[in-house]
Amino acid sequence: MSSNDGTGRLRAIEQKFNSELASVHDARSLEDIRTRYLSRKSGLLTTQLQNLGELPKDQRAEFGRVANQLKSKIEAALDTLQTTIFEREKQSALERETLDVTLPGNRRRIGHRHPLTIVWKEIEDIFISMGYTVEDGPEIESTYYNFDALNFPVGHPARDPRDTFYVGENMILRTHTSPVQVRTMEKVQPPVRIICPGRVFRRDAFDPTHSPMFHQVECLVVDEGITFSDLKGTLERFHKQFFGEKTKTRLRPSFFPFVEPGAEVDISCVFCDGSGCRVCKGTGWIEVMGAGMVHPNLYGFVNYDAEKYTGFAFGGGIDRYAMLKYNINDLQLFFQNEMRFLQQF
Ligand code: DAH
Repeated sequence: MSSNDGTGRLRAIEQKFNSELASVHDARSLEDIRTRYLSRKSGLLTTQLQNLGELPKDQRAEFGRVANQLKSKIEAALDTLQTTIFEREKQSALERETLDVTLPGNRRRIGHRHPLTIVWKEIEDIFISMGYTVEDGPEIESTYYNFDALNFPVGHPARDPRDTFYVGENMILRTHTSPVQVRTMEKVQPPVRIICPGRVFRRDAFDPTHSPMFHQVECLVVDEGITFSDLKGTLERFHKQFFGEKTKTRLRPSFFPFVEPGAEVDISCVFCDGSGCRVCKGTGWIEVMGAGMVHPNLYGFVNYDAEKYTGFAFGGGIDRYAMLKYNINDLQLFFQNEMRFLQQF
């Protein structure tokens, strides 16, 4: 074997390597070609060097020199290509995974309370802080609790199916939260000091101030020596707490079957502070509740001693309080679940 044979084989390997290298474009095939030529045991070039001993002595030095040169060339070519491939792959990964950190993030929305719930809870908190407990009653109610035991005479217009939703002969959707007064007095002896917020139902058409379902809060206090001034003082304190200290409360004589005397409750207009505006129709006052001293007839239904105990009661619309507090002019907004509305609370 001449030295030409030896170095010729090396040149052939070099050519083969160069042409194969041209089609290497990724890290994987790069690893393949590296193994194919340089692996310790079976690399095309490595085996040439291992077989050095088969050459005539005088050719070995020259062959070894050329082979080692080729080995360095191949290694250098592979390293260069490796760097190129690595850079290219990094670049395309960056392009694929572009993240503009200056873009605003995706805000994760969290829920919050409905304005009616906010007001409902606020009313509860005020009364709880005054020592009241919060009672609950059924929305599907008997005519006994909703009317009879509240001293509504037979034939009273409120009983008319055109005003009240009947679900059975003597079962209705409660038209007010007042039945909870009787239910509470049946359960406990005085002193009684409760409020009851809840849903009520009436056959009213939807309009800016009416809805077939709305919310009321009822209050009942019974004990020895409760007077009309306790009623007035309680209403005054509540309204100052809820609307602000400058709020005034006034009572006008009125009639409800379950109180005597009965009254309508006005507050000084929250929009004009009582000087007269469009909302209070120039009067300076806004009607917010019904109230009165518990009618002695009610004590007969619940076995309370009417000689010993007196009490007051009042009830008003939670929706109305929310409308006044937040200056909302359409009751329907509470029930439409329009995000642009709800997001403001
Ligand atoms: N229940 C009455 C209504 O829905 C409001 C009311 C008036 C409640 C007088 C009372 C009261 O407790 O004493 O119109």
